[in-house]
Parts: sequence; structure tokens; C-alpha cells
Amino acid sequence: MISKIGVIGAGQMGTGISHVCALAGFDVRLTDVSQDALDKGMAVIDHNMSRQVTRERITEADKDAGLARIVPSTGMEHFGDCDLVVEAATEDEKVKRQILVDLCPHLTPECIVASNTSSISITRLGAATDRPGKFIGMHFMNPVPLMKLVELIRGIATNEDTYQAVRAVVDTLEKTSVPAEDFPAFIVNRILMPMINEAVYTLYEGVGGVEAIDTAMRLGANHPMGPLELADFVGLDTVLAIMQVLYEGLADSKYRPCPLLVKYVEAGWLGRKTNRGFYDYTNDPPIPTR
Ligand SMILES: NC(=O)c1ccc[n+]([C@@H]2O[C@H](COP(=O)([O-])OP(=O)(O)OC[C@H]3O[C@@H](n4cnc5c(N)ncnc54)[C@H](O)[C@@H]3O)[C@@H](O)[C@H]2O)c1
Repeated sequence: MISKIGVIGAGQMGTGISHVCALAGFDVRLTDVSQDALDKGMAVIDHNMSRQVTRERITEADKDAGLARIVPSTGMEHFGDCDLVVEAATEDEKVKRQILVDLCPHLTPECIVASNTSSISITRLGAATDRPGKFIGMHFMNPVPLMKLVELIRGIATNEDTYQAVRAVVDTLEKTSVPAEDFPAFIVNRILMPMINEAVYTLYEGVGGVEAIDTAMRLGANHPMGPLELADFVGLDTVLAIMQVLYEGLADSKYRPCPLLVKYVEAGWLGRKTNRGFYDYTNDPPIPTR
């Protein structure tokens, strides 16, 4: 029975996961290497819960109880009594493997470890732990409080008890789980990221400008957001990292990351989180950059 959940990484996803777990009644331990990220993360959770209060989705008392259930810290020591730890740090295999190596000695043998990776092999990450049978992919969507789906990915060693325990957590969060096999980028991003990458190629080749591409896909394909707007929302570094995993993992040139995407990331233009990506967010409404 899972009651205490650890979350590693207080970025967009870690804060969202902490938010929904706390509101569902789980005790949450949130960690980041950066105190600044942790402070910002807690402020984001507070802000997002307040918005839910304003929209009458939750009460002020729910918000207060939820916030009180989240304990932030920069160390991993406070994961010692967790039943499940969800890793949601930067999408970089080396970073994640190191986190898992550092994490395991702090855990009870029963604790399940999950990764929110968007694309990296669950089998390989599981092998970096001392418990591959109790390791699983738990891929939440962004923004976590709004998005209903969680992909559950079994590595080759993941056992059935682990899968069922994590599935029960997803049910408690009132989200829908979908099983996906352990192939690069699983289901959602295997389909979504090549589309975003193709939108960047469309921009790169001058077929259309930022606004034309996003408007075309919103009105022509009935997508709620244009692909470039969505790329800024996800984070261009994360989009690039996923395309690289697809390109290398499936060894097919159709997944080649667009050179313009690479350039934006090299420039530090990572989308909303840095106030500039395909749009400039220092203006309201944001201005297309091309
Ligand atoms: N952004 C999305 O739309 C999305 C959707 C689903 C899954 N994901 C996945 O979730 C994970 C996190 O993505 P994000 O968008 O929240 O990224 P982010 O850049 O917003 O946050 C990552 C956080 O991890 C922290 N971090 C880095 N190294 C760490 C370490 N060693 N220990 C603890 N914390 C560390 C960073 O300080 C940062 O706060 C990635 O694996 C990503 O692929 C992202």
C-alpha cells in the first residue's frame, strides 16, 4: 500500500507530480539539487493550487492540506520512509543514472522506484538501480494537474506487483494509465515529437513562419495548440533530447533532429522556461520570433 511518495526534480514535471499526489492524500517528499529550483517549485505549486481554488475545483482547505503534505529538501535522506520514489529530473541518461545510484542506498528494500522519463529505456535505467524488478516507467503528461494520461512502461525486469501497485496510484490520482512497451519514447512521444520536429523543419525550410505553422495546425488539424507553441511549452531541450533518443535508439534518419532546433537549444532559447523559444514571452501576448 503506497502512502508516501518521493519526487526527484522540482521542475515543471516534478512540481506537477507533487501537486496531484498531495491533493490525492499522499505524503510527498520533494527534492532538487538546486535550492532555487525547489523554492520556485513550491511557489509554482502554491500558485497552481490557488488557481484551482479560484476555479472552484478545490477548496481553500484542500489547498492548505495539500501544501502541508509536501516537504521540500535538497537531500535524498528524507526518502527513507517512502513507498514510491518518482524521478523527474532533467532528461539526460547520465544524470538520471547517477541519481538512481545515489538514491537506492537511502531506500527501504520494499520501495518502488519510477522514472518519469519521456524517452529513455526503462530497462537501462532499471539496471542502474539495485532493484530492477521494482523499477518502472511512470510517464505523466504536462501540465500534470490537467492531463489525464499516465503511460506505464515495464522494463524487461519489472515485476507484476510493481506494475499493479503503480497502476493503483494512477487510479487514486483519478488518471488513466496506458501500458506501453519499452521502446524509445514509448507511445505519445514516438508520435508527437516527430510531428513537432517536422514543424521545426517546416519553419527551417521557410515553408511557413511560426504563426502560420501554428495557426495552420490549430485550424487545419484541429489541434488545441500549434506544434511550435507546444514545443515551447514542453521545453526545446526536452524535445531535442527525445529526438536524439529516437534517432539513436531506432537508428533511422527520419528521426534526425532539425538543425534549427539544435541551434535554439545551443542559444539557450528553451521555450517558456527561459522566456524565449519560437515565441518571445517577455511580451504579452508572446511575439513569434520568425
Ligand atoms: N516537459 C514536459 O512536457 C515533460 C512531459 C513528460 C515527461 N517529462 C520528463 O520529465 C522529466 C523532467 O522534465 P521537466 O520538464 O520537469 O524538466 P525541468 O528542466 O523543468 O526540471 C528538471 C529539474 O531537475 C532538477 N535536477 C537536475 N539534476 C538533478 C539531480 N541530480 N537531482 C535532483 N534534481 C535534479 C533540475 O534542477 C530541475 O529543477 C524529464 O525526464 C522529462 O523528459 C517532461
